[in-house]
Amino acid sequence: MPSDLSTTFTGVRFQNPFLLSSAPPTESEANILRAFDAGWGGVVTKTIGLHPVVNVVGPKTMFLRADADSAHLSMKKRPGAALHSSWNWELISDKTLDWWVPRLARIKQAFPDHALVASIMAGSGNDTELRHWQELAVACQEQGCDALELNLSCPHMDRPDMGSNVGKDKELVSIVTKVVKDVAKIPVWAKLTPSTTDIVVEARGAFLGDADAVVSSNTFTSLPLIDAETLDFEVHVDGLVSTGGLGGPAILPLSLAKMSQLTQAFPDKSFSGIGGVSTFEHALNYFLLGCGTVQVCTAAMLDHAVGPNVIRALNRGLACFLDKHADKGWTGVENFVGLRRDRVVSQSKIRRPDEKDYRGGYEAEGYAEPTAVS
Ligand SMILES: Cc1cc2nc3c(=O)[nH]c(=O)nc-3n(C[C@H](O)[C@H](O)[C@H](O)COP(=O)(O)O)c2cc1C
Repeated sequence: MPSDLSTTFTGVRFQNPFLLSSAPPTESEANILRAFDAGWGGVVTKTIGLHPVVNVVGPKTMFLRADADSAHLSMKKRPGAALHSSWNWELISDKTLDWWVPRLARIKQAFPDHALVASIMAGSGNDTELRHWQELAVACQEQGCDALELNLSCPHMDRPDMGSNVGKDKELVSIVTKVVKDVAKIPVWAKLTPSTTDIVVEARGAFLGDADAVVSSNTFTSLPLIDAETLDFEVHVDGLVSTGGLGGPAILPLSLAKMSQLTQAFPDKSFSGIGGVSTFEHALNYFLLGCGTVQVCTAAMLDHAVGPNVIRALNRGLACFLDKHADKGWTGVENFVGLRRDRVVSQSKIRRPDEKDYRGGYEAEGYAEPTAVS
């Protein structure tokens, strides 16, 4: 079985193509050290900003679960229910840049051969704010970080010049990326929001700003469900809720659709896929659509906080897959990245049945009989 799972992505070498994404699993030095110990090829730190944030009272993340034998969906823990999604309204890191700086240096010293990516976020409303991006970028790269990930995607920032509000504006995406590229000596990845009409537009902005890679998806804008008994949202503070972000299994197909648009529009560019991954089979979708690396959050949160079993299974899955396809000469992910990118086509290109077989679609097996309308 091949034991070398390494890959090079945007010029950075990864021992394997799997990263913990920017989120609670990467919010502290202890977690990141544990993650590298467990075998993750890279980590993206929890997003670092210049101003510490204060999160809402109570839980910042909850998990929505589905019953196997009914259509019931709820965040209430109960036996036999399967994970549907995570929902969070957590802001960026509540630690200052000064807190992060010595820790980034220590992590890099302890694990020089593992890829440490710093996720950063500032405003974009004026030149001072744009200089904050540069301050963050320089501080992180001076500690030895291998790449920078620009958070242009957090779905619950109130400020109109931050997070997904930047990611929805192709010009701001371009400006912020360019401003960081002006001072960066390491690769710059742009993490875009999926909450736009056509993510290709914002990705074009990122590449015009000279981004080395585009990352997708952050969580999808969403609300928790309302409890039919209490008439309260399942997550609330004093009865109030704001929109938050949906992650986990429910977003895998949604995120794949975004990634497919991106890799088709820019087949020669680099992409890192995120959304709903907990097994190698899930990650394989992203590789086959054209991603060079894959990131994980929700599955890791539910596995001892940093996903030791998840990364073991991902690495084992990749090793077995390479072994199975050794006769094709495949020795690493590079050999199959993008192999199914061009299988996604417009509807009109999908073969129709011969005319004699055509029954208008709605009579096909599986559709309910039309009921009489009184
Ligand atoms: C509680 C929580 C906090 C998160 N915080 C950040 C963040 O600070 N920066 C960021 O870029 N993404 C953040 N994310 C998004 C994740 O990195 C990831 O893009 C998203 O959860 C989808 O991946 P998944 O389906 O594996 O969870 C957060 C997600 C969760 C659930």
